[in-house]
Amino acid sequence: MKLGVCYYPEHWPESDWADDARRMKLLGLELVRIGEFAWSRIEPSPGEYDWSWLDRAISTLHAEGLQIILCTPTATPPKWLVDQYPDILPWDAHGRPKKFGSRRHYCFSSPTYRRESARITEALALRYGDHPAVVMWQTDNEYGHHGTHESFSPDAAGAFRQWLQRRYESIDALNTAWGTVFWSQDYRSFEEVDPPNATVTEANPSHRLDYRRFSSDEICEFNREQVDILRRHSPGRQIAHNYIGDFTKLDHHAIGASLDVAAWDSYPIGLLSEGDDSEADKAHWLRYGHPDFAAFNHDVFRHCSPQWGVMEQQPGPVNWATHNAAPAPGMVRLWTWEAFAHGAAFVSYFRWRQVPFGQEQMHAALLTPDRQKAQALVEIAHVAGERETTGELESTSARIAIVLDYPSLWQHEIQPQGRAGSVLEMARTLYSCCRQLGLDVDVVPQGADFESYGLVILPSVSILDAGMCERLRDSGATVLATPLTGSRTLNGHIPENLAPGPFANLMPMQVRVFESLPPFAKPRVMAGGQMFDGSLWRESVKSTAQPLALFENSESAWLRNGRVHYLACWPDEPLLMHVLRQLCQEAKLEVRETGRDIRLRRAGNIQFAFNYGPDVIDLTFVGAPETDEDYLIGARDIEGAGVSAWRI
Ligand code: GAL
Repeated sequence: MKLGVCYYPEHWPESDWADDARRMKLLGLELVRIGEFAWSRIEPSPGEYDWSWLDRAISTLHAEGLQIILCTPTATPPKWLVDQYPDILPWDAHGRPKKFGSRRHYCFSSPTYRRESARITEALALRYGDHPAVVMWQTDNEYGHHGTHESFSPDAAGAFRQWLQRRYESIDALNTAWGTVFWSQDYRSFEEVDPPNATVTEANPSHRLDYRRFSSDEICEFNREQVDILRRHSPGRQIAHNYIGDFTKLDHHAIGASLDVAAWDSYPIGLLSEGDDSEADKAHWLRYGHPDFAAFNHDVFRHCSPQWGVMEQQPGPVNWATHNAAPAPGMVRLWTWEAFAHGAAFVSYFRWRQVPFGQEQMHAALLTPDRQKAQALVEIAHVAGERETTGELESTSARIAIVLDYPSLWQHEIQPQGRAGSVLEMARTLYSCCRQLGLDVDVVPQGADFESYGLVILPSVSILDAGMCERLRDSGATVLATPLTGSRTLNGHIPENLAPGPFANLMPMQVRVFESLPPFAKPRVMAGGQMFDGSLWRESVKSTAQPLALFENSESAWLRNGRVHYLACWPDEPLLMHVLRQLCQEAKLEVRETGRDIRLRRAGNIQFAFNYGPDVIDLTFVGAPETDEDYLIGARDIEGAGVSAWRI
């Protein structure tokens, strides 16, 4: 439960550093992340390192007892490197190299850049690897951001061919796996295969799926090369990467396997503005962010590496969203506690001082450009004090698991069947409904152990692992699958037994017809004597299982086979809540309905409540204590943007 901040000493006069460090310490911060964009100041010319300023910055922070998260600066290769080796640039989908002048301008598959990344990483690790202030490393910065998860450079094409050769061994196997007989796409050798970009119309979906796998694997390998160097020269330090929230272009589970800490960057208000929520919801949560955005990502990254944390926490208005509202006073404190209640090892704020130049001059920080306190700083001081009242929080495992599978998400993005909605959105809605029932949720990969869960949810996991289906059957958990579950093979084909593929072993059924529907044509569903709506997706299913709800034409909309349930349309929230209430009862999960703005999270024997709305709410309706003396934090009447916590 450490607090930290992102700091850029290279942006400020050296005469400010000591005072900055003093103020950080006074505020209660323990961690300072530095260096992720500082390559041009560390190595101003090829091979000429200037360590002097960084040595002094590190000693200044260390002198105040602050601990350092030192970053490899590979997200921003300097101009001379790009000019010397233009082959390091990533290429866009139209086959054009991207230019120098912003950030992330490199291709993960460039052998030159791999060499340069290893070189600068090693130089930093040799210089600071055993510095007593350096407690953690961060590799690069936000892999895949700004559309850099894929590059279509000649180097990427070459690496893709080798990847395919390793995966398929023979070109005939590839032709079968991709179904290249369709539209006369047969290849005679791996040399003939290109990346799937700039085609006349859509490229082969299996080809695209493999390119997504390949691109994620390249990032994994790039990261692992840095990790290996850091482990060699900086023993005993943790290694982290800062992922992006709600970002599914790379396989976080695979990358996280080589890291100690899966950190992520939490910008709840910026991402509400960019998301697909209704205008009414966006208006309601304008200054609060969606109540489940941060929590969902906490629960994703909690399962990627042994530890996790928030590397960048939004402190005020950001600069990059369509609209950039300021958080309601209290939200920075609330987000911090929500993270700690989920088991975060640290929360670090982006950034110490608002910078008056460059691309992010409009982005808020803890200090204004003239070094005055901004709202967030006051709230952080509050949290720093409050930590004493709870002590280190224990983490409690949830009883509900939602399975998140990256290749399945990619498959659906590649062949969504029109504007049929997003699987991530489906997963988020399921997650949100569980939280509205007062329940904690884990978001786990297919390889997870399901023994401890009462309810496991498969949100349209299209590429199902048959082994997982068996483990699910043996686990004793109640299972809910939404449509499209099991609808594709590993290669992205329709399975021989049709959808739901291997899930048919748990639920005797076959999807005979599927359709995607416009938002104005909602499939109506009769369940428990009430009429509900689905949206965007509807299936006609043949099954011997028991129907629990019907579409208007009497086809099954909700099927049950023992503990296993299947929904044949994407449900709107009221239908989903209806289904989940019944499933929770079946799985003996105690439900406490929270309403729109209140959310709960349990940490050991401490129960937290968060108010993501403007109104004061009496918390006794969720089982909170009657008297204010029984609260560790906050009170029975929780204020807008407030936090309350009590022992149970
Ligand atoms: C993150 C990034 C930071 C900064 C921040 C602004 O995505 O890692 O460097 O750009 O956004 O919100």
